[in-house]
Amino acid sequence: MPVLRSIRERFSEEKPLDGLKVAACLHVTAETANLMQTLVAGGAEAALCSANPLTTQDEVAASLVETGVTVQARRGEDIETYVRHVHALADWEPHITLDDGADLLILIHERGQDVRGGAEETTTGLLRLRRLESEGRLACPVIAVNESRTERTFNDRYGTGQSALDGILRATNLMLAGHTLVLLGYGATGKGIAQRARGAGAAVIVCEVDPLRALEARMDGYEVMPALDAAERGDLFVTVTGSRAVLRREHMERMKDGAVLANAGHFDVEIDLTDLRELADGRVREVLPLVEQYEIGGRRLNLLASGRVVNLAAGEGHPAAVMDMSFANLALAVEHLALHGEELDRRVLDVPKELDEEIARLKLESLGVEIDALTPDQREYLSSWGTRP
Ligand SMILES: NC(=O)c1ccc[n+]([C@@H]2O[C@H](COP(=O)([O-])OP(=O)(O)OC[C@H]3O[C@@H](n4cnc5c(N)ncnc54)[C@H](O)[C@@H]3O)[C@@H](O)[C@H]2O)c1
Repeated sequence: MPVLRSIRERFSEEKPLDGLKVAACLHVTAETANLMQTLVAGGAEAALCSANPLTTQDEVAASLVETGVTVQARRGEDIETYVRHVHALADWEPHITLDDGADLLILIHERGQDVRGGAEETTTGLLRLRRLESEGRLACPVIAVNESRTERTFNDRYGTGQSALDGILRATNLMLAGHTLVLLGYGATGKGIAQRARGAGAAVIVCEVDPLRALEARMDGYEVMPALDAAERGDLFVTVTGSRAVLRREHMERMKDGAVLANAGHFDVEIDLTDLRELADGRVREVLPLVEQYEIGGRRLNLLASGRVVNLAAGEGHPAAVMDMSFANLALAVEHLALHGEELDRRVLDVPKELDEEIARLKLESLGVEIDALTPDQREYLSSWGTRP
């Protein structure tokens, strides 16, 4: 993670986070450990809990504790334990929070606790925080890390695109070539999954509710149709909408024998598990680790990772090369809040353009890629509005 490493080196010298308590509710992975150590290098006290009960890498949690970071997480923890861990981080009274899904910052708001600022890593979290903002109840500035250019393009498209398929293949060893993948949700994340699946030889069908996104998918060369029609065609279904019950009874009743269902959206609500259980009426068995088979009217539907975010629950999440940029965004967002938090509005704010460009510049440098700069003449031309010759 060369971008984060160079930030960490600067943080070690400048100590911009001295005296700050930073609490993070993120997936507990090796990449997150790197981020936590970067914050500590900057002078912060750091604490971490998991943003998802199934995604913690226990060995990472244990080794972070040895470096002085408080960690409240265990892989496979039940919901009560998960909630207790998020509460423990709020009890610690952090100055700045980092979230992937907003559970920590929302809890802090529910309790009416003081907090100087937060940064949010994913679409679902931002949706919740924007709702708070629209009700005039957002109590601190929140940096929308998820929407920076370095995050949106690389994390969502390339990171999830690769790692969601990786999680599915690890769990099933499925052959993509020659099979049909039905993708529900052609957003920033869905586009990456569709692109990678097509590259591996799958036929991809896209289901959307947004006419612009649907048109984009069609013009990108995919088949587009309602989910009810796609239900009969798919071998593999991937939901990534941020919405609920996107695959439900009416779709399950039409699916082929052997169909595989996976979710890459943040919460495990995109595949309606109640419908699946009711349809199977007890005829459920684990056929592989993380693969549950539901028998419905003589057909078998295979659910991956209990409908939880598949790239983390069945794989290792995004490759470090992608998380490097995402977590550089978080590290610089914490520094920005530490230095300028008092002047910022209590709103959901964009990552400042200079930070985004700095991250892209560091990443290019680490890849050994050089680029051009505008000449003074070009700069003047582009910033003037006068009549063109
Ligand atoms: N697995 C990961 O690593 C990862 C990474 C980034 C984001 N996410 C999560 O993935 C989800 C989607 O994120 P995004 O950034 O792509 O969001 P997005 O808003 O860019 O895209 C979601 C798309 O789903 C469509 N949609 C909504 N309801 C639908 C329905 N019923 N049927 C079909 N399409 C529907 C929307 O029109 C939209 O185009 C969120 O929950 C986000 O938190 C996961």
